[in-house]
Amino acid sequence: MVETLVFAPTKVNLKEAINKSRLPKHIAIIMDGNGRWAKQKGMLRAFGHENGTKAVRQTVETCAELGIKYLTLYAFSTENWNRPKIEIDTLMRLLVSSLKKEINTLSDNKIKLSAIGNLEALPKKVHRELLEVIELTKNNERMTLTLALSYGSREELINAVKEISHKVKNNIISSENIDESLINKHLYTQNLPDVDLVIRTSGEQRISNFLLWQIAYAELYFTSVLWPDFTKENLYEAIVEYQKRERRFGKTSEQIS
Ligand code: FPP
Repeated sequence: MVETLVFAPTKVNLKEAINKSRLPKHIAIIMDGNGRWAKQKGMLRAFGHENGTKAVRQTVETCAELGIKYLTLYAFSTENWNRPKIEIDTLMRLLVSSLKKEINTLSDNKIKLSAIGNLEALPKKVHRELLEVIELTKNNERMTLTLALSYGSREELINAVKEISHKVKNNIISSENIDESLINKHLYTQNLPDVDLVIRTSGEQRISNFLLWQIAYAELYFTSVLWPDFTKENLYEAIVEYQKRERRFGKTSEQIS
């Protein structure tokens, strides 16, 4: 009998399968599944979040290596304030310790940190640490890492509508001039391009109030991998899948080719 050899894609050729000239410019990730990951191991949710920070580190490193220009991570939503206080405290403590630990790595790798969301709502210590790292890395140009913290897309849009209507009322702008670009300028993400690829881990297939305006034409990628298990290879897989999609932006296939 003649044996048929099947070559499964290896870790190495998955990276090589990425077309460097067609990388997504902006990747946004809904990091989900920390709690379930910990539960599967018979551990407390905090253990899942702690291990989630390792996946954050590896993802940031991999994106920078690949040449991704913008990476946005959904780290804490407006709805997450409804979690038990002990879990919120753990997440805030992890944020401060990660920021302190990673400041030099961010600087050495020329990564600029930014944050979107209602940052005033964060505990003072977190807010202070965050602003400090943002200030220290503000001139870095290799990649912009944005943390969505106390972030909710509906809240962001409500704020934008309020600001714009205030300007209209005070004759600073005319309602005739309200267009996409004006709305963009009133969002937390005013300095970021539209999202090209959204990744959500843990098998859930929803957007959960994340960047609703900014993902209008993003490709969505869902994986069952729980966030603490998310590896370089999982990221390569997502990018390879993204590159297989035809992004038509409402046009026909023929127009695109
Ligand atoms: C979702 O898992 C994850 C979060 C709400 C927080 C993400 C935070 C981290 C990865 C750690 C700190 C972040 C940074 C940027 C240093 P879940 O708790 O909803 O998991 P579950 O759905 O399984 O319960």
